Amino acid sequence: MKLWGGRFQKETDTLVNDFNSSIDFDARLYREDIKGSLAHAKMLAVCGIISKDDEEAIRTGLLEVLSDIESGKAELSRDSEDIHMNVEKLLTEKIGDAGKRLHTARSRNDQVALDLRLYMRHEIKDIEGKIVDLLKVLSKKAKLHQETVMPGYTHLQRAQPISFSQHLLAYASMLERDVTRLEDASVRMNESPLGSGALAGTTYPIDRMMTAKELGFDRPMSNSLDGVSDRDYALETMSALSILMMHLSRFSEEIIMWCSWEFKFIELDDAYSTGSSIMPQKKNPDVAELVRGKTGRVYGDLISLLTTMKALPLAYNKDMQEDKEAVFDALDTVKMCLPVFTGMLDTMKVIGANMRSAAGKGFINATDLADYLTKKGLPFRDAYTVTGKLVYYATEKGKLLEELTLEELRNACPLFEDDVYKAIDLMTCMEGRSSYGGPAVAETTRQIAELDAFIEKRNNR
Ligand code: ARG
Repeated sequence: MKLWGGRFQKETDTLVNDFNSSIDFDARLYREDIKGSLAHAKMLAVCGIISKDDEEAIRTGLLEVLSDIESGKAELSRDSEDIHMNVEKLLTEKIGDAGKRLHTARSRNDQVALDLRLYMRHEIKDIEGKIVDLLKVLSKKAKLHQETVMPGYTHLQRAQPISFSQHLLAYASMLERDVTRLEDASVRMNESPLGSGALAGTTYPIDRMMTAKELGFDRPMSNSLDGVSDRDYALETMSALSILMMHLSRFSEEIIMWCSWEFKFIELDDAYSTGSSIMPQKKNPDVAELVRGKTGRVYGDLISLLTTMKALPLAYNKDMQEDKEAVFDALDTVKMCLPVFTGMLDTMKVIGANMRSAAGKGFINATDLADYLTKKGLPFRDAYTVTGKLVYYATEKGKLLEELTLEELRNACPLFEDDVYKAIDLMTCMEGRSSYGGPAVAETTRQIAELDAFIEKRNNR
């Protein structure tokens, strides 16, 4: 008979039994479920709701159930519906009546809300650590490439000279925000729903402060209906994970382009590339493509839960059982992507010469030529027009700006002097951009120091 079978005259239809059951996907919450039950039982005993002996029996029994599940000895069944009732059944089989007292002053509604929060709390920590590992690799590479000039792009057209270091540090800034977004979400998530009961709390003299503290929460959730009904903490985390994946997908896209013969800015390590079954020459950036692809999957998980929650009346509804697969899939996917992405970056070969030669084409020093004239007294808009004409002229002649003779330059504007060649030299152009946040070495040095401080702070937690 079901734990809730008392009111029923018939057995559950077998199709309904399987349809209703969540054990196939919520079994992974067993640790959190047992941890929550240990705290609940302890509180029940302290508050005089169950006896000390019962609590003792429940504690010993739950720890045995834990090791039985861990060793594979315990059999989890669809008949017991979900992880909560499976654990309770296994416990009662072991210790009899005391096991049946565990669920006093509790509902599966507050239990599942608790389990998911506990589970997500440690998964988020794990993910934060994995992002920090990626930041360490970015810091290491950024230090090596402060003078590696490459074209910066807008509209995927060569725009202005930057360093590879600055490009990497842009991603580091995004990833730092991803870490802090997860940290922020964790703070809001860290309130305990336990003791909300089915929805309306309980008539027993429970101590919600005690269980909240016992389980490492900052406080109990203030409203019992809210405690069992909202999944905003899961949505907030999945939003943060979606943004993180969006960042990784942009980075992946660039990795994919950079490995192509059209760019050849980097070469991925053999261990992080794959071959083709037919084309013997191929070395494909599958890791980056998969990270880009899996981004859609994480967005899907977010949209799926948002849609599930849309318009649900208070308080608990069974629809919410659908939360877990989306949350687990998003967490699993991100946890899988991060280390492989980090390894791929750590082992890639950077071909600075190709970046430098790409920077040499495409007139990326045109802004600097205009700035040169502006600094000689010509209004910027006029300098802009003169330079535009020179770019057109040079294109027609098949020359770069720095290959034009002083005479050719002076034909366009008499303000040009010998020092112009130094002014439009790529390294000068990059180093000249020393405004706060720019690519000049002094600025990437400052950015790297900030990144290292960010990493160091998380290392010491
Ligand atoms: N397996 C359920 C879930 O994941 C647990 C809560 C069930 N509560 C209920 N009243 N049916 O949502």
